[in-house]
Amino acid sequence: MKVVRAVLAGVCVALAATGVQARPWADIQKSGTLIAATGGDLKPFNYFEGKKLTGFEIELAEAIAQKMGLKVEWKVLSFDSLLAGLQRDRWDMAVSSHGITEERAKVVDFSNPHYCGGAVIVSKDGKVQKVAELAGKTVAVQTGTTYLARLNDLKKSGEVDIDSVKNFPLDRDARAATLSNRADVWVTDKFVAMEAIRLLPQSGLKMGEILFPEHMGAAIGKGNQGLLDAFNKALAEVMADGTYEKLSKKYFDQDIRCT
Ligand code: ARG
Repeated sequence: MKVVRAVLAGVCVALAATGVQARPWADIQKSGTLIAATGGDLKPFNYFEGKKLTGFEIELAEAIAQKMGLKVEWKVLSFDSLLAGLQRDRWDMAVSSHGITEERAKVVDFSNPHYCGGAVIVSKDGKVQKVAELAGKTVAVQTGTTYLARLNDLKKSGEVDIDSVKNFPLDRDARAATLSNRADVWVTDKFVAMEAIRLLPQSGLKMGEILFPEHMGAAIGKGNQGLLDAFNKALAEVMADGTYEKLSKKYFDQDIRCT
């Protein structure tokens, strides 16, 4: 009996640790609202136009939620806190251009990808083009990102002798550091870079080599299968009925779904 109790206690701890107690799909459905967290700092994916949160991912998530019969209540927090909050059941999902990685998939579940992008090198006047040219340079990058992890790996492994990797809670501050010459290079998503270059034609910002490609997905509490299935089904629907294509063309002039 003691053994059984100990095993049961172990199972409960394990369940709590994996976040199975997040709001299950039936509860979310009953409430009519999906609580989603985002960084709100990544134009054109999630950003503010005045006081209004908008962007490709915001509109896409709202269209997906509509198919699920739900409204979205947005929580805007620093990117770095989004997955930790999800693990503590503070929201139902995080929609913030998260690259799907094995590391993250240990602690959260990912939807099917909602777009494909990639980490890119950006510098003023294109003075840094290639990964090897990061040697001796100062690189600005957002805290908590796959970009930061990769840059640290490159440096630590000795593969590229980057002078310093500076991280910023907001992606736009990493960009600002590069614009004001506090950093030589900004690493961000290629679509974010394209938008910055379009909006700041005088800045001289140019894209160099892609560091690595990424599949982006919505993060959902580990084991919240009902929500995951419902979200994936609705995502497939907006991809099939023209909604996705329309939104993607509005923001990017092209369809950015993974092929
Ligand atoms: N794709 C990168 C990652 O997965 C960066 C995402 C940044 N998102 C944001 N909303 N600032 O880490």
